[in-house]
Amino acid sequence: MNSRPTMVSFSLLALLPVALLWAVVVQAGATTFPATVEVDLIFPRNDTYAPSALFPIVFAFQNAALAPSLDPGFDLTLWAVSGLNTTGYSPALDLAATNFSGSDPTYVYTYVTHLNAADDGTAASYRLAWDFSAGNCSDQGGGALKFGGGFRNNSIEFTIQSGAQAPDLVAATASAAASCSNISHFAFNLTDTLNVALPAQYDSRNTCAVFSDVQPLVAGNPCAVQVGTATASSISAALTATACAAVSPVVSCPSTNAAPGGQDTGYTVVLGGIVAAFVAMHHL
Ligand SMILES: *[C@@H]1O[C@H](CO)[C@@H](O)[C@H](O)[C@H]1NC(C)=O
Ligand SMILES: *[C@@H]1O[C@H](CO)[C@@H](O)[C@H](O)[C@H]1NC(C)=O
Ligand SMILES: *[C@@H]1O[C@H](CO)[C@@H](O)[C@H](O)[C@H]1NC(C)=O
Ligand SMILES: *[C@@H]1O[C@H](CO)[C@@H](O)[C@H](O)[C@H]1NC(C)=O
Ligand SMILES: *[C@@H]1O[C@H](CO)[C@@H](O)[C@H](O)[C@H]1NC(C)=O
Ligand SMILES: *[C@@H]1O[C@H](CO)[C@@H](O)[C@H](O)[C@H]1NC(C)=O
Ligand SMILES: *[C@@H]1O[C@H](CO)[C@@H](O)[C@H](O)[C@H]1NC(C)=O
Repeated sequence: MNSRPTMVSFSLLALLPVALLWAVVVQAGATTFPATVEVDLIFPRNDTYAPSALFPIVFAFQNAALAPSLDPGFDLTLWAVSGLNTTGYSPALDLAATNFSGSDPTYVYTYVTHLNAADDGTAASYRLAWDFSAGNCSDQGGGALKFGGGFRNNSIEFTIQSGAQAPDLVAATASAAASCSNISHFAFNLTDTLNVALPAQYDSRNTCAVFSDVQPLVAGNPCAVQVGTATASSISAALTATACAAVSPVVSCPSTNAAPGGQDTGYTVVLGGIVAAFVAMHHL
C-alpha cells in the first residue's frame, strides 16, 4: 500500500536533475525580451499585527539584474488613518547603493519605530503609501536617448492591535494568497534596455529600460517571492543594526564589545523583550 507514493517520489526525484539543468540553462542565457521586472511589497500586507518597536517595511525586486535600468526609487509615507493622532512617518529607502546583481530576488527594506495600537488599546489602522519611480527611455536615433517614466502610486492599509501576530516575513509570504493579484506590486514589461552613454544623466545607471508601448505594466507574479528563515533573519539583523546605530536606539543593543558569534546571532541573543515581537521573525 505504501509502495505507490514511494514510487511516485522516486520518479519525481529522477526528474529533478533535468529540471535543475533546465533552470541553469535558462538563467545562464542572455536576457530575452520582453522581460518583466517586478517590485513587490513583501511586508506589511493587508493584515493585523501586534505593536512593535521596529516595524519592518520590505520590498522584493524580481529579475533584479534588470532593476537598475529602471533607476528605481521609493517615496514612502505611513500614517494612522484611525484611532490615533500622530504625525506621519516618511521612512527613507535609498536604492543608490543597492547591489542588484547579488541575489534574485533582491530585498530592500527600512522600518518605522513604535507603531502602536490606539492609546485606549483598541486597534489602529495605518496606511502605507508607496510611490515608486521607474525610468524608461527611447532611442531617438543617432544614439540620443529620450528619458521618460516617473512615479506611480500604490498603497495598502493594515492594522496594529495588541495580541495580534508579530511582524513575520516568513509567515507573511508563506501561504499563496487567496488572491495573488491583491499583493501590492508593480510589474514592468521591458522590450529592451539601452546603454546610457552618459550615466550621470541617469543617476549613474549604465542602462535604461525600454517599456512596452503596448503593455508597460503587466500582472506579474507577486506570490512567487517566499521569504525563508535565513533571509528573514538577516533582514531583521540588518534593521536592528541600523536601529542600533542611531543616537538613541529604540531597541536594546549589544555593547560594542559584545560576545563573538557574528552579527546575526549576536543581535538575536541580546535583543530583549522590548523587541520580542520583531525577533519572532527569526523563529518562524
Ligand atoms: C484587506 O483585507 C480586508 C479584510 O480581509 C478586505 O475586506 C479588503 O478588501 C482587503 N483590501 C485589499 C485592498 O485587498
Ligand atoms: C492632534 O495633536 C495635535 C498636537 O498634539 C493637536 O494640536 C491637535 O489638535 C490634535 N488633533 C486631534 C484631532 O485631536
Ligand atoms: C554585488 O554582488 C555580487 C554577488 O554577490 C558581487 O560579485 C559583486 O561584487 C557585488 N558588487 C558590488 C559593487 O558590491
Ligand atoms: C517611456 O518613455 C517615453 C519617453 O522616452 C515616454 O514617452 C513614455 O510615456 C514612457 N512610457 C511609460 C510607460 O512611462
Ligand atoms: C493614487 O493616487 C490617486 C490620486 O491621489 C488616488 O486617488 C489613488 O487612490 C491612489 N492609489 C493608491 C493605490 O493609493
Ligand atoms: C482583493 O481586493 C479586492 C478589491 O480591493 C477586494 O474586494 C477583495 O476582498 C480582496 N481579496 C482579498 C483576499 O483580500
Ligand atoms: C509585453 O510587451 C510586448 C511588446 O510590446 C507584448 O508583445 C507583450 O504582450 C507584453 N506582455 C504582456 C504580458 O502583456
